[in-house]
Amino acid sequence: GAKKLWGGRFSGATDPLMEAFNESIHFDRRMHAADIRGSQAYAKALLNQGILTADEQQQIDSGLSQVLSEWQAGTFKLCPGDEDIHTANERRLGELIGAAAGKLHTGRSRNDQVATDMRLWLRDEVNQQLEFLRELVGALVQRAENDLDVLMPGYTHLQRAQPIRWSHFLLSYAFWFQQDAQRLEQFLPRVCQLPLGSGALAGNPFQVDREWLAKELGFTSVAPNSLYGTSDRDFVAEFLFIASMIMIHISRLAEDLIIYSTAEFGFVQLADAYSTGSSLMPQKKNPDSLELLRGKSGRVFGDMSGFMMTYKGLPSTYNKDMQEDKEPMFDAVDTLTGSLQITSAVIATLKINADKMKNSLTGDMLATDLAEYLVRKGVPFRQTHHISGAAVKMAEDRGCQISDLSVADLQTLHPSFTDDVAAVWNFEKSVDNRSSIGGTSRVTVEAQIALLKKWLQ
Ligand code: ARG
Repeated sequence: GAKKLWGGRFSGATDPLMEAFNESIHFDRRMHAADIRGSQAYAKALLNQGILTADEQQQIDSGLSQVLSEWQAGTFKLCPGDEDIHTANERRLGELIGAAAGKLHTGRSRNDQVATDMRLWLRDEVNQQLEFLRELVGALVQRAENDLDVLMPGYTHLQRAQPIRWSHFLLSYAFWFQQDAQRLEQFLPRVCQLPLGSGALAGNPFQVDREWLAKELGFTSVAPNSLYGTSDRDFVAEFLFIASMIMIHISRLAEDLIIYSTAEFGFVQLADAYSTGSSLMPQKKNPDSLELLRGKSGRVFGDMSGFMMTYKGLPSTYNKDMQEDKEPMFDAVDTLTGSLQITSAVIATLKINADKMKNSLTGDMLATDLAEYLVRKGVPFRQTHHISGAAVKMAEDRGCQISDLSVADLQTLHPSFTDDVAAVWNFEKSVDNRSSIGGTSRVTVEAQIALLKKWLQ
């Protein structure tokens, strides 16, 4: 095998099977830029301590920049023995600049290095996911604004409940995604805590200025204990949880739209661009994009629970188990990246059938409004609920709509019913009655749109 960074105390060779089992380069190469950034900052910190001369630091800095451009150009050649990204970059730096490369790792360990790389990498990804979330909220708000007049049945238990605005439904998800974005923002300061300078476990013996390093790398604090700094992967678990919550929201939205796109509902039609056909049944148009969104949520929960199983039993500081932290993190980021973009596109291109939504509204969905009519006449709600229920039953027994009952019919249930009861049978009015903050009235839906637009600015 090739010469190893840690080979000094070894006389026997590594089993090739073990080499393959041990390496992480095929996935942690994704962090090549973060690894180089961390090393360039660390070399400057060593210069500040007089560990490197200005010339050595210069060589290291420009050598690392060259390594980075090789990665970016796709010309970086992996060698046997490049077990991970840290080893590979340092090996290549040595080939480029010679002896000075051997001073870079002074006082540093791959343990504080890998934790730093992961946090640098994840910070940039979190900012990217925030962009995707804002695009999605923007797509939902745009639609909510355009389709403001469209009424539809609202459901509880998937049974027709009360009329709502279609926009009100869309905005319910927009607020979830806004909260997801806020969660990610609140998470950022915990990602931006610097492990570098923790050494292998016990700290740095060359008095590197960790506050300076944190600033140099755009971090907001320094891990205050070196054992904690090298042990901690809470930021991975927390990211995976937030990613899982986002996927839950995407999955629930997908499920709603799958149901609404069936012929039986017919409320929405997915654009061809996000549907696929059947190899056997010529008439089929299937909502595959939505089904994948729903399905991929399970995958991200798997990333989270799998990682937590790995993390839970580890003794203090670095253990090789922790190499298993990266793939779930990468997978969750990739899945989220695809899912958020597809969800935005599906929402923006969705066709709706406003007539089908409206025609699905039935008189009995105003039974609550009928009870509220009596409440406004001074009858206690508990009583009105019962009376309105009796009206529903009366209409059912006669095979008519509740709105077809005459005032005389209703008066057999309570004397307070008068001619003005006719005004109850109006879906627009029912919807606009709900005008306390958060309700489905036009004014309060417009207020929701304004809130989100302000946040999006
Ligand atoms: N490839 C390793 C990982 O991903 C880097 C850290 C190795 N540290 C060590 N002490 N073996 O975790």
